[in-house]
Amino acid sequence: MTTGAIPRPADTPGKTDWFVHDRFGLFIHWGIYAMAARHEWVKQREQITDEDYQPYFDHFDPDLYDPDEWAATAKSAGMKYAVITSKHHDGFCLWDSQFTDYKAPNTPAGRDLLRPWVEAFREAGLKIGFYHSLIDWHHPEFTVDGIHPQANDLAFRAANAQRDMSKYVEYLHNQVRELVTLFNPLDILWLDFSYSQRDWGWSKGKGKDDWESERLIRMVREIQPDILINNRSEIEQDFRTPEQFVPRGWLHADGKPVIWEACQTLNGSWGYDRDNLDWKDPDLLVRMIVDAVSKGGNILLNVGPTGRGELDPRALDTLADIGEWMRLHGRAIYGCTQAPFSTPPDCRYTYNPASKRLYLHVFAWPLKYLYLDGLRQRVVYAQLLNDASEIRRLDAPQHHDSPDIGADTLVLELPIQPPDVEVPVIELFLEG
Ligand code: GLC
Repeated sequence: MTTGAIPRPADTPGKTDWFVHDRFGLFIHWGIYAMAARHEWVKQREQITDEDYQPYFDHFDPDLYDPDEWAATAKSAGMKYAVITSKHHDGFCLWDSQFTDYKAPNTPAGRDLLRPWVEAFREAGLKIGFYHSLIDWHHPEFTVDGIHPQANDLAFRAANAQRDMSKYVEYLHNQVRELVTLFNPLDILWLDFSYSQRDWGWSKGKGKDDWESERLIRMVREIQPDILINNRSEIEQDFRTPEQFVPRGWLHADGKPVIWEACQTLNGSWGYDRDNLDWKDPDLLVRMIVDAVSKGGNILLNVGPTGRGELDPRALDTLADIGEWMRLHGRAIYGCTQAPFSTPPDCRYTYNPASKRLYLHVFAWPLKYLYLDGLRQRVVYAQLLNDASEIRRLDAPQHHDSPDIGADTLVLELPIQPPDVEVPVIELFLEG
């Protein structure tokens, strides 16, 4: 049974071909919050003042930082692109910006940490992007609002009532221009985030009018026309970014399918969070990647490196497991999208329209038979993807008292034991 055509998102300003092909990327949240080691929002959550946040700046010395190693880890996990925080909400900058002193070269690190990252990831053949925070809790002209770390400090609010947001906006635009000029080409600009719908009475949230997003994006596109930009500046651009969940189906906006990328954590926190134990199983993460691609989306999976510049051993273990699955099953992910067929229970389909191969991801291994409606006449060959072992079909099914086996139902005969992989995949070759 064909469930209709594969959704086709409208063209967007940037070049999205590589993005919808590559499907799987690495997100990196790294800054001085890694020193606190209790979430990248620690400054806000604990209402920490600039003065009390300063020790993290003064002691930031990532002596073990080796971006080549990070790039190798991403590659062997099967990731094709990576996005790193040039600046997060705390305002700390990883690169040698001419517009601020609040940057890595002025910490004990003593150097630009972003440039070597760009070089290493490019060298490894990965596409690259920057996450850049629209919010800034360090800049003296960023007007105090309800999510500012000092939002509850009435004296601070009074003393800072005269802040001039236009000066901050100039800083924001200058830094973004600096980034897209210094690092050209860049594949992705991942802006974060807007909250214009918030209203605390004494202050309002911020959005496109506050960031002057139209002008910001126009400037970026003048310098790098093909770059991909997300929609978190409140201007629709190339893709949307559901956070910490996979949508139920292909993401739509105003009734139309859009390009989307779900961003996910390994443990619920983006920045390094030492005592957090909410680590997701590799098994769950692989199903999540499959689930996203089966709905036409990408996954950007996050790591939060430590203050010494290393990836957490728990993250490394998980990425190695995912990498082993991706090594064997990559062709069921790259170049794949939602399939135009209805999925059997406990499974997901991904489909490569170029090779005309359909991938059946079996989330719960059933007893002996799998019934695939609409495919009996369309599948010419079937095999397990991990070892290319044939999966036979029952062409004259005998147990056909079973109620819903139609003339177009393909019946596959499975071994009792599933292959020893996180998610078994059956590769179905469709007729030319
Ligand atoms: C949120 C958070 C942030 C994180 C981001 C990732 O917007 O503010 O800490 O960087 O999501 O999607």
